[in-house]
Order: sequence, then C-alpha cells, then structure tokens
Amino acid sequence: MRIAVLPGDGIGPEVIGAAVEVLKHVAPDLETVHGDVGLECFSRRGEYLPDETLDLIRESDAVLFGAITTPLKAEGYRSPILRIRKEFDLYANLRPVRNPAPGIGLVDMDVIIVRENTEGMYTGEETVDDEGVDLKRRVSRAASERICRFAREISESQSRKSVTCVHKANVLRKSDGLFRDVFYEVMEESVIESRDMIVDAAAAALVSNPQCMDVIVTLNLYGDILSDEAAALAGGLGIAPSANLGDGHALFEPVHGSAPDIAGKGVANPTASFLTTAMMLEHIGRTEEAGRIRRAVTATLSAGHRTRDLGGGLGTKEFSEQVLSRL
Ligand code: NAD
Ligand code: IPM
Ligand code: MN
Repeated sequence: MRIAVLPGDGIGPEVIGAAVEVLKHVAPDLETVHGDVGLECFSRRGEYLPDETLDLIRESDAVLFGAITTPLKAEGYRSPILRIRKEFDLYANLRPVRNPAPGIGLVDMDVIIVRENTEGMYTGEETVDDEGVDLKRRVSRAASERICRFAREISESQSRKSVTCVHKANVLRKSDGLFRDVFYEVMEESVIESRDMIVDAAAAALVSNPQCMDVIVTLNLYGDILSDEAAALAGGLGIAPSANLGDGHALFEPVHGSAPDIAGKGVANPTASFLTTAMMLEHIGRTEEAGRIRRAVTATLSAGHRTRDLGGGLGTKEFSEQVLSRL
C-alpha cells in the first residue's frame, strides 16, 4: 500500500511530520511518498498543484494532507485542495467531532458532520461586472442524493440515534429546499430518526444543546463553518480530523488550516493530524493500528500532557514523543 503525503504550508509540515512518525511506528510496511502542493510549492516551482502531485494521488491508496496557505491576491487562483476534491470526485467530507479526552473542550460533543464536498457555494464561478459580483451556486439532485445516502449509511452502520439535515430552505427555497426534500426521500424507511434544522439554529444548538446533535448532513459551506465551530467546542482546531471520500480515492486532512500565526514555532498541536492518520488507517482496513493511535492520543492527554492551545506547555515534538512512548 502506498500513501501520498502532502504536507503543504505553515504548520502543515510540522503536524504531518509528526503524523508520519506515528504512522511509520504503527504500520512500518506502508510506503510513504511525499508530494508538493501549496503556496511554498508555488514560490519554488511556479505552480500550486503540479501534475506530478496529481499523478502521485492517482497512483496511491490514500492521501495524507496537511494544510495550505491561500494567497491573498492571485489572479485566477483556484485552491489546490478544492481542485483535488473536484478532480477526484471526493464528494463526502466526513468530520467526526469528539472531545479527544475527558475534560478537554467546552462541552461534551460526539457529532459526525457529513459535508457535501463538490458544489453549493464552492463552484468557483464568480462573474464580475461594473456593479458587483455574481456567484453561481449549484445544488444538484445527484450530489444531494449521494451525500444523504452516505450520511444514512454511516448512521446505520454506526447505530447512531439521528441524522439532522442542516439547510437554509426558508430563504434558499428551491436549492436548499431540494437538498432537504432529497434528504427525506433518502431517509425513508431508515431505522434512524431523521429531522431537519435551519443552519443558524443548528449553529446555536451546537453550543447550547450539543447532546441533541448526532449525525449532521449539510451543504458545503455550512459544513465548513459548523465543523470549525464544533471543533472549537470539543477542544479547538488542533484536535479535529477529517476525511474526503470518493468512490475511487480518499484524502485525509486535519480540519484546521496552515495557521500562519504559529507556524515555524514548533507549538502546533499534532492531535488532529494523529487522529486524521487513524481515520486513514481505518479506511485502508488497518483498524487495529487506528485504534492504537486513538488510545495513545487519549492516554497522553488524560495524563495531562498538553500543547499550548489546550493550556499546556508542550511543543509539537514533546507532545508527539509522549504519544510515541505510549505506542
Ligand atoms: P487556521 O485553521 O489555520 O487557524 C485558525 C486558528 O486556529 C489560529 O489561531 C491557529 O493558530 C489555530 N490553530 C489551527 N490549527 C492549530 C493546531 N494544530 N494547533 C494549535 N493551534 C491551531 O485558519 P486561518 O488562520 O483562517 O487560515 C490560515 C490559512 O489556512 C489560510 O490561508 C486558509 O485559507 C488556509 N486554510 C487551509 C485549509 C486546508 O488546507 N485544508 C483549511 C483551512 C484554512
Ligand atoms: C476546509 C478549508 C477549505 C474549505 C479551504 C481551505 C478551501 O477551510 O477544508 O475546511 O473551505 O473547504
Ligand atoms: Mn474550513
């Protein structure tokens, strides 16, 4: 099995470097091949996502991705991560949010956010005229159906209590209305309770009553925002993993970005990238190794070892050593 490793920019290489050490420790037989992507890559090679990297993804069994920095001004820029999601049709963005250990986070949370990953506000089709800018926003029946099916399957296979469709169909009556209608069609006759909620109320419920949330299925931008919110409640961006899944390919990345404010200081929390590695191992059938990583992370945090974002004093390297010693 071959894993493509794309560390990217900012804290990406710091947390992915630590994750690869953990990966090598639990699964030394896996081949890892590094690839280039992002703003740093652009400054060296004049492109954000070289063809060589796309080929590497194509020829790998899974991708471990760090984070990339978006340039503030760049004519015609299209985010490499969005291009990869689209090009490999990674239509399901799976973002489980849980406190990584007891006592961490503002509230107790066990929510799975299933985010539609190919359309909605993310078409990239903005047209500028003298008066302003128009955005093409796309909600298709096909994409809505496959993401709702994905959410149904995950809920059933994990025996979850409920699936909540989160939308803004009170305003976006046709587009989000279609998403909600398709959701109820897909959930018909499922044993899982299905319900829907408007996105602003869902954002409030995550804070005030997170226990009422179980699996959430939602459109692209709402999923982006709600997953950072949920992560912040469960311990911060430093702890939240994610998977981008399609029928043929899979890419795993922490929910957080390149964190330029702390990059290069050696203080980033690698927990999200460790849990991301666990998700990747699980996906390729290495459930036992995935469990070992999760248990080592929880044990490390439970023993009181913390990076700065969680109120502790350890750097990335010291925290990683604690996790490695428990493995
Ligand atoms: P961010 O997620 O990078 O950072 C937000 C805040 O969380 C910062 O204060 C940061 O220090 C903190 N943080 C994030 N990860 C952390 C970690 N592992 N440990 C400790 N603290 C952590 O979001 P941002 O600052 O809005 O974006 C920075 C750049 O990253 C932007 O260019 C953005 O476009 C990009 N971005 C990329 C991805 C991706 O590649 N998948 C995702 C999100 C943002
Ligand atoms: C994420 C990020 C990306 C998104 C950005 C970097 C394009 O915020 O993966 O959550 O909006 O999907
Ligand atoms: Mn995001």
